[in-house]
This record gives sequence, structure tokens and C-alpha cells, in this order.
Amino acid sequence: MQPSGYTPTPDLSRATTLPAHWYVDPEYLDVEKQRIFWRTWQAVGHADAVAHAGDYLACEVLGEPLVVVRGEDGVLHAFSNVCRHRASIIAEGQGTCRALRCPYHGWTYGLDGRLLGQPEFEGVQYWDRSSVCLPAMPVETWGPFLFVRLDPGGPPLAEVLGDIPREARRLGCDLDRLRFYQRKDYLLNCNWKVYVDNYLEGYHVPVAHPGLFRELDYSRYRVETHRYYSSHYAPIRPAQGDPERRYTSDGAAALYYWIFPNFMLNIYPDNLSSNIILPLGHDRTLTIFEWFFPPEHLAPDSGVARRTLAFSDEIQIEDIKLCENVQRGLRSRTYDTGRLSVKRENGVHHFHMLMHEFLTA
Ligand code: FES
Ligand SMILES: [Fe+2]
Repeated sequence: MQPSGYTPTPDLSRATTLPAHWYVDPEYLDVEKQRIFWRTWQAVGHADAVAHAGDYLACEVLGEPLVVVRGEDGVLHAFSNVCRHRASIIAEGQGTCRALRCPYHGWTYGLDGRLLGQPEFEGVQYWDRSSVCLPAMPVETWGPFLFVRLDPGGPPLAEVLGDIPREARRLGCDLDRLRFYQRKDYLLNCNWKVYVDNYLEGYHVPVAHPGLFRELDYSRYRVETHRYYSSHYAPIRPAQGDPERRYTSDGAAALYYWIFPNFMLNIYPDNLSSNIILPLGHDRTLTIFEWFFPPEHLAPDSGVARRTLAFSDEIQIEDIKLCENVQRGLRSRTYDTGRLSVKRENGVHHFHMLMHEFLTA
């Protein structure tokens, strides 16, 4: 299937949005899985789950079962979590082990992925145990996150992240000190790209997020696009004693990043949150929000964590309604494509260009 109906143009003043059928035709998701989700770094869990030799973590990328293990030599590996015998899932959850043992017939695999043993297999012809190995794929960590890419080839994680690690440090957010605090899932009745589009512009903030609008200096809000990510500069307005305001650190900035295709980072001086956007179907999307705080803000009497979560929840509920409305509109027989604000929607345009690039590659 070849995606159709979108003519990419680098000139935002002439660009259109992606055609509606890219969001409502179920066939697009299959193509997106193979050409986008398998070819990009996907956040699959927390780095501290595999901090020590022998640690393993079972995870998946859009239904593809994986296991990340740290070998005896300290090297991190990601393997297919599918047994080479008759395809059972091997590892579940997380833990520590010396070898991975399939729960079906007991084949065991070393932490390097090689088959170590299989009961009662004498006499099998044209089969060489030493050549049996769980397929491996690239795995990397950054701060509290663990990333895997299903297809080999493509840029290393550091190249994809570009200047993000340096900018986070400059803001005062020390990623290596952050500890996982809480996860919250939201289910949306919309295509995953509708949610991403919504994240990528501040254009809707004055109308749709009154609480957030109070916090931000909207006139200085801007989006900068890079090769594989965009950064959203959203300066916080001075509080001037307003008790309603969440952020009072005058002049402090927040950094928002979107990393192609489905990972978002919201970085504040005192915390970080990530959003992972996972398609469950062409019109069903799971968004996973996770919060990370430095240890001193995880103390039970700290109100910072609680206030941050409540504020985020308010914005998310507003966004869900917007996104589900858009999905309904995209199904209309009267709508195909729209146009973009040159001043405010360059991030959306950048995403659409990347979508086209990957889907037609
Ligand atoms: S399926 Fe794994 S040992 Fe049989
Ligand atoms: Fe929003």
C-alpha cells in the first residue's frame, strides 16, 4: 500500500495537512508499524529495571514481544522474547536470572541470547543448536528511559536526541537523579496522529486550555524543528502573587520536546514527565504519562508532585475532548485536508513531512 493524497512541500505557507484518510483508514496503521514504529527508537521501560547483571525486563513494541537483559559482562541486550521452538513467550514481567527459560518445554537461553539447552531433543536431524539464537536488536538508555529499535540500521539514539540532553542540563534538570514517581494511562478514541498533531502546536492554548494559558507567556511561545524532533519553547509568566498559579518560579522556562514519532518529554526545573503515544487500533490510542522527580520531591509531605499531576490531568482531559472531536470530523465525507498557521503550526507541518518521508521511503 502506498500512501496517497499528500504532496509534501517544505514551504509551510503552501502546505496542507495530511489527508483525512491517513487518520481513518485502518490500512495505514499496518504500514506505519513497519515503516515508522519498527524503524525508530521506542521507549519500552525504565532503565533501572535492568541496572544490574542478570536483570531482565519483558516489554513490547506495538505487540512485538521483546526482552531486555543485562548480561554477566554488564552489556545490555534486547532480544525477541519469542521461543525458537514453538513460539511461546519466554520471559514475563521483570526480575533477575542466570538464564532465560521458556515456560512451555523448558528450552533455556543464555543472557547473550544463545540456546543453551533443550530437553529430549536427541535424534533431530539437520538442526544445529549452536546456530539457534534469539534475534537481537539495538537497545540504549538515556536518563530513566530504556529505548529499543526493532530494525537494525538508522541513526543511534544520541543522534536522534540531538541537543535535548544538553538543554535539559542547562535548565537544571538532572536526568540521572530522577526517580519514577507515577504512571497514568488515558485511552482516546482517535488516531494516534491526531494526538501528536495536538501536542505539536500551542495555537489551541488560548482557546482550549485556560489554566495553562494563565501560566504561559503565549506571545513568546515558539516551536523549533530539528531533524527528528521539535522543541517547544513555552516560557512561564511571572506569578505576581496569583494564588491560582501552579508555577511560581519567576522567569523559569519549561522545555517540551516531541521526538518522532510518538515520544514526548516535558521538562521542568523540578520534574520531568514523558508521554508515550501508542496506537491500539486506527482509531484507538493509549497515552502513557509518567512522572519522574528528584528524590527530595518524592518525600510524602511534598506537594510539588501532587500539584503537578493534578494540573497535568486537567490539561489532558481538555486535550482528549479536542482530539476525539477531530477524529469525528476526519470521518466526515465533507473534509479532506486543511491549511496550517505559518506562525503557530510549523511543528505539525514538520511531523507531517516526517510521516510522508518514512511512509514513502
Ligand atoms: S515453545 Fe519454548 S520450549 Fe517449546
Ligand atoms: Fe493541548
